[in-house]
Amino acid sequence: MDRIRIRGGRRLSGTIPVSGAKNAVLALMPAALLGGPLTLTNVPHLADTDTMAALLAQLGLTVEHDKQKGSLTLSGEATSLEAPYDIVRKMRASVLVLGPLVARHGTARVSLPGGCAIGTRPVDLHLKGLEAMGATITLDSGYIEAKAAPGGLKGARIIFPQVSVGATENLLMAATLADGETELVNAAREPEIEDLALCLMRMGARIEGLCSDRLRITGVPSLGAANHRVLADRIEAGTFACAAAITGGEVLLEGARLDHLGSVARILREAGVGLHEEHKGLRVTRLNGLHGVDVQTEPYPGFATDMQAQFMSLMSVAEGASMITETIFENRFMHVPELTRMGARINYHGSSAIVRGVPRLSGAPVMATDLRASVSLVLAGLAAEGETMVNRVYHLDRGYERLEEKLAGVGADIERVRG
Ligand code: UD1
Repeated sequence: MDRIRIRGGRRLSGTIPVSGAKNAVLALMPAALLGGPLTLTNVPHLADTDTMAALLAQLGLTVEHDKQKGSLTLSGEATSLEAPYDIVRKMRASVLVLGPLVARHGTARVSLPGGCAIGTRPVDLHLKGLEAMGATITLDSGYIEAKAAPGGLKGARIIFPQVSVGATENLLMAATLADGETELVNAAREPEIEDLALCLMRMGARIEGLCSDRLRITGVPSLGAANHRVLADRIEAGTFACAAAITGGEVLLEGARLDHLGSVARILREAGVGLHEEHKGLRVTRLNGLHGVDVQTEPYPGFATDMQAQFMSLMSVAEGASMITETIFENRFMHVPELTRMGARINYHGSSAIVRGVPRLSGAPVMATDLRASVSLVLAGLAAEGETMVNRVYHLDRGYERLEEKLAGVGADIERVRG
């Protein structure tokens, strides 16, 4: 199994190109089940995009993926309406094929995703929304079986009791082909949802209320072809901003957008990180010391849960203390014991962690059980004295394109050890 070796202490300087957003592309790809052909550009080459492509191919779509150019064309219609356990268990985002399949074909069978490393993560909101649109849902042998009423899904007013990115995406897609109007209230407002809505509109969908927590969709009989460029990955950008800051460096994040960082930008600035929007992207500098700042994760535009682990690494070398509260997922502190092994002073109880900054971390062999926790260890390794070996690199490969190449390109001493 591959590992990543980092020798810490190098100041990062230069330009890092930011890839297309993983979480956007994983919702955009299933949109091709609604109509097409759909050509996506700026598609990051990740293990998760390969998994989604394999699932869509298995459902019967034709997938043409030019990995060099980062373009992906999905065409044809589903010939199978079942997403099997073997794929869904690898990647929860597979459940996003459910809404499109039921909307277009009236029925679908999708394996229940089950638990994952960062919590139980149910899909009840996805299912209740489809039920409100007239579908009958049954759970059988670990599978969700969804059947629309004769005549297809019907528009409905769906009020989410809790903000969910995935449920908003699934029901937004389903509503594009439903009969009549659908209103999604308390919808997630993540930039990836706006990106999905823009793509669906290019395909012919009628959607109003973009960027708000109230989406109104008027169903249309069919969706057609479109070309869509995937937006830049705000989480990758935020991660590299932390990398620059933790090494006292200065980098230009090419293609990144300040407005998409939401509260992450405000918190980074409070911590002493300079962020300036430029023509080509976002310049990140850290000229002075870092200070501890308290933060709580929230739905967008609040501080992203997908940035919590990286921010904790940064806070572990800041002056003073920082209280970090995780409100989205119940088990998202797996990086804490590993950061502690590198010399960080962190205590946590329930959903809150207190980080007391130390002057320096020390390199160690470490591993983590999810994507963002793993990258937080890479960040810690960049700042640590000595060598850090990050194991279980496959987590990183799910969500970061050429991570070690991009960091080496701005001066990090980092390499992948094959084997
Ligand atoms: C997406 C992102 C993930 C990010 C998360 C929160 C993708 C592929 N993944 O995940 O990287 O960390 O948003 O920003 O885009 N919930 C329910 N019932 C449901 C659905 C969700 O209780 O039916 C709960 C979840 O357990 C969690 C919270 O709602 O506590 C938010 O989850 P959600 O926004 O749905 O996350 P995902 O879409 O799975």
